[in-house]
Amino acid sequence: MDIEEIAAEIIRCRKCDLHLERRKPVPGEGPEDAKVIFVGEAPGKEEDRVGRPFIGRAGGLLTDSLREAGLRREDVFITNVVKCRPPDNRNPRRDEISSCIPYLERQITAIDPEVICLLGRVALQALLKETTVSKVHGKVIQRDRTYMPMYHPAAVLRNPELRTVMIEDMRRLRRFLSDSNSRKD
Ligand code: URA
Repeated sequence: MDIEEIAAEIIRCRKCDLHLERRKPVPGEGPEDAKVIFVGEAPGKEEDRVGRPFIGRAGGLLTDSLREAGLRREDVFITNVVKCRPPDNRNPRRDEISSCIPYLERQITAIDPEVICLLGRVALQALLKETTVSKVHGKVIQRDRTYMPMYHPAAVLRNPELRTVMIEDMRRLRRFLSDSNSRKD
């Protein structure tokens, strides 16, 4: 199943109550052959209005830090653990995550990326069952797939001293990708 078909299912989804208050579901965006998937938490107000991931302030920071590390937003796939906005931007509940996560798993299978970047605690917990971003950010973690946890850009906005950490982690990601390219040569 390709990424468009999965997105079409997400747009029709009513598996949990988040569909009652959402304006637009946000399946994610990026090329089907992306080498990296970024996984955030859930759409915010702006994302819910437009139907695209990470387009508010946190999204601006994500785009800028990708660029500063020499990566391009257009080359990566960006999505969230939960595809519909939780009311008042509360954290997604465990039942909402378990209803929604099969979509993310199918997106990962369809794209088959070299690395999955987990932005913040909700994504880290949902995919790796770990909770402390500060212990694992910027590390390559090998499980069923290859993961790299990072700080969530919203946390960086709240805590500006994390900005250099986030950009350094993005640079590690870029080095990991160019090393894996040269391993293939
Ligand atoms: N925060 C997220 O986790 N995801 C978005 O798409 C936007 C903000």
